[in-house]
Amino acid sequence: MNVLFFSSKVYDSTFFNKCNAEFDHKLTYLEVPLNKSTAVLAKGHEAVCIFVNDEANAEVLQELADQGIRLIALRCAGFNNVDLEAAQKFGMKVVRVPAYSPHSVAEHTLALILTLNRKTHRAYNRVKEGNFALNGLMGFDLNGKTVGLIGLGKIGLVTAQILKGFGCRVLGYDILKRDEFDEIGIEFTDLNRLYAESDIVSLHCPLTPQTHHIINKESIARMKKGVMLINTSRGALVDTKSVIGALKSGHISYLGIDVYEEEADLFFEDLSDRVIQDDVFMRLLSFNNVLITGHQAFLTSNALESIAAVTLQNISDFEHGRQLENEVKA
Ligand code: NAI
Repeated sequence: MNVLFFSSKVYDSTFFNKCNAEFDHKLTYLEVPLNKSTAVLAKGHEAVCIFVNDEANAEVLQELADQGIRLIALRCAGFNNVDLEAAQKFGMKVVRVPAYSPHSVAEHTLALILTLNRKTHRAYNRVKEGNFALNGLMGFDLNGKTVGLIGLGKIGLVTAQILKGFGCRVLGYDILKRDEFDEIGIEFTDLNRLYAESDIVSLHCPLTPQTHHIINKESIARMKKGVMLINTSRGALVDTKSVIGALKSGHISYLGIDVYEEEADLFFEDLSDRVIQDDVFMRLLSFNNVLITGHQAFLTSNALESIAAVTLQNISDFEHGRQLENEVKA
């Protein structure tokens, strides 16, 4: 099929071109994101391949449909940026990559926890400058700490397994209880107890109307003073202004985020020679107990290989009228 990629980077074309030898689709890569101004570029293609911050709202989907697009292939797991009802209305199918490497995101979650705790980012800079003083670098043993995971899907479960290896007590909350939680040794509980007892709270649920700003002033107030908050899921799970208030008061002692609610204007681009206009983001950057990465939790070679293989298979299945295993519907 004739497929147009939006928001593509060198690592996307590298992995997709290599994998496409088996599929033989015609792949065209654009660096621009999908939005109402760029949708018109889809003319002459049959499918578009998009990523987390591409805009696929009703207006954009209408334009894509007018240009002859029949398939939206997400090269990610989350699909909160696609208006599924509109896609259905315009006769377009939507496919995604439900699981490519839950380990990539779970291990990045641990990277954030360990860096914030043991301050290896600060130690690295100090030692480079010949400063071997240890003041301000004290951490705590992860062993024996209680970690609360919200969302016990593929990533939440791998995170739980890794944390158990560190000797942590793992509390978990999900809308659905499954047998595997007991097998891994997760104490399934409600949000009240999870907030009240966790030294670290980590988010692994999708962004839905129910989870939008699940972390807000009121939920933070129910957490332990000095809690560490980690978000590798989606930015809008967290009300950033409430978190800034809690960082200032000391209620939250550490914040590690790979995602940010207004990240679409910032992430995946080199803005180092510009003045960043987002004052909320700049306030976050000013805290020395906040660690931000730019939506890179998925970025391992294993994950990229898997994303390319599953996405191209999804496109081939659509092309040949086969059952769409990874279809997402309204
Ligand atoms: P999954 O679908 O396997 O698991 C999500 C879990 O959240 C399910 O068990 C579901 O029942 C639960 N859930 C749904 N609504 C909930 C609610 N209101 N409260 C508590 N739990 C709820 O998804 P997976 O693969 O584990 O991914 C989780 C999220 O991680 C994705 O939705 C995506 O937003 C994010 N993600 C981030 C990446 C990154 O690079 N930072 C990469 C991949 C995924």
